[in-house]
Order: sequence, then structure tokens, then C-alpha cells
Amino acid sequence: MGGPLLLWNMRLFTLLLLMPGVLCWGHEGHYVICKIAEEYLSEDALFAVKQLLPDSAEGDFAAVCPWADTVRFHYHWSSPLHYVDTPDFKCNYKYCRDCHDSYGHKDRCVTGAIYNYTMQLESAYAGNNFDLSTCGDNLTEALMFLSHFVGDVHQPLHCGFTGDLGGNTIIVRWYRRKTNLHHVWDTMIIDSALKKFYNSDLSTMIQAIQMNIADTWYNDALTWGHCAHNYTACPDGYASESVSLACKFAYKNATPGSTLEDEYFLSRLPIVEKRLAQSGVRLAATLNRIFASQTRIAQAES
Ligand SMILES: *[C@@H]1O[C@H](CO)[C@@H](O)[C@H](O)[C@H]1NC(C)=O
Ligand SMILES: *[C@@H]1O[C@H](CO)[C@@H](O)[C@H](O)[C@H]1NC(C)=O
Ligand SMILES: *[C@@H]1O[C@H](CO)[C@@H](O)[C@H](O)[C@H]1NC(C)=O
Repeated sequence: MGGPLLLWNMRLFTLLLLMPGVLCWGHEGHYVICKIAEEYLSEDALFAVKQLLPDSAEGDFAAVCPWADTVRFHYHWSSPLHYVDTPDFKCNYKYCRDCHDSYGHKDRCVTGAIYNYTMQLESAYAGNNFDLSTCGDNLTEALMFLSHFVGDVHQPLHCGFTGDLGGNTIIVRWYRRKTNLHHVWDTMIIDSALKKFYNSDLSTMIQAIQMNIADTWYNDALTWGHCAHNYTACPDGYASESVSLACKFAYKNATPGSTLEDEYFLSRLPIVEKRLAQSGVRLAATLNRIFASQTRIAQAES
């Protein structure tokens, strides 16, 4: 690749980063999810996570959770792994029907990616062979992708309709600003909530969500992390919930050209905050299962 082209690509990349519309749950959303997850990690999972973090994270797990968005254009193969498109107006999801990219390649969607990266981490840690360097997979990347995609699968419009690209082609106004419905759910609802209710302070928002998990949602939250049949990861249920929420809340009263204001914002914000909470709790539960095998072996050896 020539110098000028590379430079142009870097400019485009920077521009894309500055245009949140093309990214997933914004930077804030992914950061919030991983901050919440951190609270629920077992000691062993936290230990394994810290070992896998790149130096650039400086020990902060949440710092790597937006990473997958920043490599989306460099690793262009990873772009379809951020979402799963479902048939128009069906309001349901099926892995075998829906999990493919736009060329029809199977398993190339967000739920397929969650299985993929769970398996990579699990097989590296579960075997008797602990020499991680013999393994072909980059486990640091596996952790960073997994932590990002468990967040994405909870954003209702990451499991939206094929015809409108998960709300990306539905142009609306968010108060006075022109944008698209997908971006409203990735970023605008969170941004408006930060300004209106949390004094523009992300940590205040994180604390409020943590308090709801410990209080308002407590009984529910006890089961959020469970997987049927003792599976290590179970993203299909999260995708089904998402497309159902997309129909009930995201698409509802948000037709092309509509202006979304207080009524939409205040009724959808609780959904967004609950999805952030569920992503965090479920990410922690998944990582706890992945890295639990390590504990068994560590205990057997001691
Ligand atoms: C699985 O992970 C590898 C390594 O990142 C990647 O090359 C492959 O495309 C992934 N496949 C899916 C379905 O996520
Ligand atoms: C694994 O991925 C990270 C992040 O992309 C990279 O910095 C690191 O060099 C990779 N490690 C190996 C062994 O390729
Ligand atoms: C799940 O695992 C637990 C503990 O290993 C076991 O007691 C239980 O029977 C398992 N449940 C299923 C449905 O496999």
C-alpha cells in the first residue's frame, strides 16, 4: 500500500472514529458494560483477564472493550461480526437462519463470533497443556473481541431488520439533530442521559446502573448470567431478546422522518440501561465459566 493511500486511509479511519454513527454501542456504552462486568468477575477470571490485557490497557479491562470498533476497518473481515440481521418485520431470531454475512457465509455474525472467541479462550485454558504460546489464536484479541460482542448483541438494533440495516437507513431527528435510528440506540440515548441525569459524568451513570442491579433488578439479575445445559456461552437468547426489544421499543414510533424527543427518550432510556446492565453481568458470567477450568487445574496442582 502506497504512502498517500495509507495516509488517506488513516484520515478516513480518524474521520470514521469521529463520526460515531458508523460504530456500535458508542465508546461509552462498551466502557460502561466492562466496568460493570469487572465487579462480577471471579478472582480467577480477573487474574486471567489481567494476564491477557495488552500493555496499552494499563491494567484497565474496560479500556479494551471499545477496541473491536477501532479495528473494524483494518480487520475488515471482522465487520459483520458486530451484528446479526433478522428478516424484516419477523421480530424473531434463529441462529441457523440468520447467522451469516451478506455473502451468506455461515457463522459470520455477532452470535457466531461470541461462540468462536469463547471456544478459543476455553480450549486454550481448559486443556492440560498450559503453554499458551503453542496455540495459534491470539488470546488477547479473543478476549477483546468477546468482551465487545457480548455488549453488541444486547443492543436491540444490532439484531434489527436486514432491509434497514438495523435502523442505519432510518433517518430521524434526535431532538434537533439529524441522525439515524441505529445511532440513536448506539450513542444518542446514552449521551442525552449523561447530560440530563448524570452531570455528564460516566462514573455516576455506572454507579446508578450498579445500584439498580443490586436493588430494582436484584431478583432478575440473579438469573441473567445463567446458561441452559451448563453451556459456557449462550448468546442466542440475548439476540432473541434484542430483536424483540427492537420491535417493541426501537422501531416503534420511529418511522423515517420522525422527530424523537422526550417521550421516546424517557421511555427507552430504562431499556438501554437494563441492556447495559445485562451485558455486563453476562459478560462476567461467561468469563467466569471460561476461566473456571483454570482454577480446577491450579487447585489440582497445588
Ligand atoms: C474466529 O476468530 C478468528 C480469529 O480472530 C477469525 O479469523 C474468524 O473470522 C472468526 N470467525 C468467526 C465466525 O467469528
Ligand atoms: C495479539 O494481538 C494484539 C492486539 O492486536 C497485538 O498487539 C499482539 O502483538 C498480538 N500478539 C501476537 C503474538 O501476535
Ligand atoms: C450443570 O453442572 C452442575 C455442576 O457441575 C451439575 O450438577 C448439573 O447437573 C449440570 N446441569 C446440567 C443441566 O447439565
